[in-house]
Amino acid sequence: MPEEAGTQTRKETVRIGILGGGGILGAHAPAFMKLKGRCSVAAVAEPDTGRHGRIRELLGQEVEIVSDYRDILGMSEVDAVDILLPHFLHLPATLAAAEAGKPVLVEKVMARNIEECDRMIAACEEAGVSLTVCHDRRYHGQWMALKEVVDSGCLGCIFYWKLDHNQNVLFPPGSWARSRDGLGGGAIMSCLTHQIDALRWYGGEVASVSCMTQVLPERMEGETVGIVAARMRSGALAQLAINWFTRSNAGPDSLWYEMVQVCGDRGEAYYMYGRGTFLMLHDAPDRAAVERWGEAALKGFVPVQCGGWSGHERCISEWVKSLRGEDDCIVTSGREARGTVEVAEAAARSAETGCSVSLPIAPAPWKDPI
Ligand SMILES: NC(=O)c1ccc[n+]([C@@H]2O[C@H](COP(=O)([O-])OP(=O)(O)OC[C@H]3O[C@@H](n4cnc5c(N)ncnc54)[C@H](O)[C@@H]3O)[C@@H](O)[C@H]2O)c1
Repeated sequence: MPEEAGTQTRKETVRIGILGGGGILGAHAPAFMKLKGRCSVAAVAEPDTGRHGRIRELLGQEVEIVSDYRDILGMSEVDAVDILLPHFLHLPATLAAAEAGKPVLVEKVMARNIEECDRMIAACEEAGVSLTVCHDRRYHGQWMALKEVVDSGCLGCIFYWKLDHNQNVLFPPGSWARSRDGLGGGAIMSCLTHQIDALRWYGGEVASVSCMTQVLPERMEGETVGIVAARMRSGALAQLAINWFTRSNAGPDSLWYEMVQVCGDRGEAYYMYGRGTFLMLHDAPDRAAVERWGEAALKGFVPVQCGGWSGHERCISEWVKSLRGEDDCIVTSGREARGTVEVAEAAARSAETGCSVSLPIAPAPWKDPI
């Protein structure tokens, strides 16, 4: 980006086109609005006119709204695109954005399988544009605090992970998300990928998975419930579960929405939605760890100091920095996020065959390739 003359060096405002103005725009729009002056939203593509009022409420009455994502890709006043489309459109929209020379931020999950991820990565690399996946948990203050604990080494040798995700998700009839082809499978590919991505970020790569699923056809074609057992390359075991038919996160006395637990031979830690991130050191801990986290951590779980920002806010802020050529902390490139899709795809193959699946797996086209 060219720089403006002035007492301070200031770069041009980057102009963003948003493809899809549905539910998750509610998390992206405030993040862009907070960055006013550094970036601006030039246009939103959304065919459902019933959603246009909300888009204007979120982004201002003057925002241009077009009906199809392809209408934005030809706009010279758009520098980069943020893809908030149904999963089956992540591949074609990214290919078209790359062809138009626009850097891409795409919501999770990156695509329906690794074959689609590979095509997205290749198209962006050939076009010389960046490809970033909005795996927001990696940018969230409380999830980042757990990463700091793990990376400090204070837990010793980590042997166990438990991550889960609980929601009551009921899509309306006809929704793209009710169909396997729309979603790329079921709840595991759609949302347990938050937990899979966090596991890989915290604990390294997965060596093999075994998976069982439960389909409730009155709710959706893909699985509503899924359980994944994973062996990490480190040797640790991980247990991941998603339940899209529970109200565990509802009401004042709720259980929880998401949680991460990690156990090592010198300590353990957890993140729990709505509560924060906590750490306990076991007997014979590393003295440096006691100095860093405090004596109280020897007696029970103590809160770990966390940044107060949301994952979307921080991810978008880092992406805008990258577009402006500033130093950024992007940790979710397309190449990195492909690994998360690979674990979810391996889990789907395991559920289908009843066998454990070792990684890496070979790419195979979706059954109705785009
Ligand atoms: N990070 C999170 O916690 C989180 C939460 C919810 C959704 N998401 C992700 O956000 C993405 C979108 O999900 P959503 O819940 O907003 O879905 P949604 O169905 O509410 O929104 C998708 C929108 O895309 C629009 N659309 C369809 N075809 C289009 C076209 N050709 N051109 C332009 N727009 C078109 C639809 O009309 C719809 O409004 C998905 O990748 C989803 O997994 C992430």
